[in-house]
Amino acid sequence: VKAIGLLIILVIGGALALGSAPPFVSAQEQGDAARGERLFNRCKACHTLSEGPRKMGPHLQCLIGRTAGAVEGYRYSDAMIAAQFQWDRDTLEAYLRAPNNLVPGTRMSFAGIHNDQQLDDLVAYLEVATIESGCE
Ligand code: HEC
Repeated sequence: VKAIGLLIILVIGGALALGSAPPFVSAQEQGDAARGERLFNRCKACHTLSEGPRKMGPHLQCLIGRTAGAVEGYRYSDAMIAAQFQWDRDTLEAYLRAPNNLVPGTRMSFAGIHNDQQLDDLVAYLEVATIESGCE
């Protein structure tokens, strides 16, 4: 069993070293992070991508992989506190498409993005931002 574990680590490590398997490759293949960055302008009134100045919404630093409702000191809705999932491509696309469908009772008043390509682009940007700020 140990040997198999080691083998897996070597294979994954090798793939990472070759740069052939960045952790969030799937959405980046579909989305265009540069276009996503422009779409993020729709979020900036309420969100930052760092712990910077306090806005109406929680900061989105290290968003990918974060548990919903987890920024310390931010007062989330009860609905978001009760949410048990993590932010990944699927949960983000669902939330940004229709916030109240994924988290009924969320306080994020945002009409939603209904264009699949735009959702892919925005999530690709959030993934790049997560990687670039050195998050897992
Ligand atoms: C009008 C202000 C506003 C806008 C615009 C807005 N949000 Fe939000 N967002 C919020 C608020 C408020 C919350 C907290 C929701 C709650 O507690 O239910 C939130 C929560 C979130 C969360 C959950 C974070 C966590 O810590 O679990 C994500 C992800 C998110 N927003 C992404 C976005 C993105 C991406 C956009 C742009 C497409 C956007 N939001 C636009 C106000 C906004």
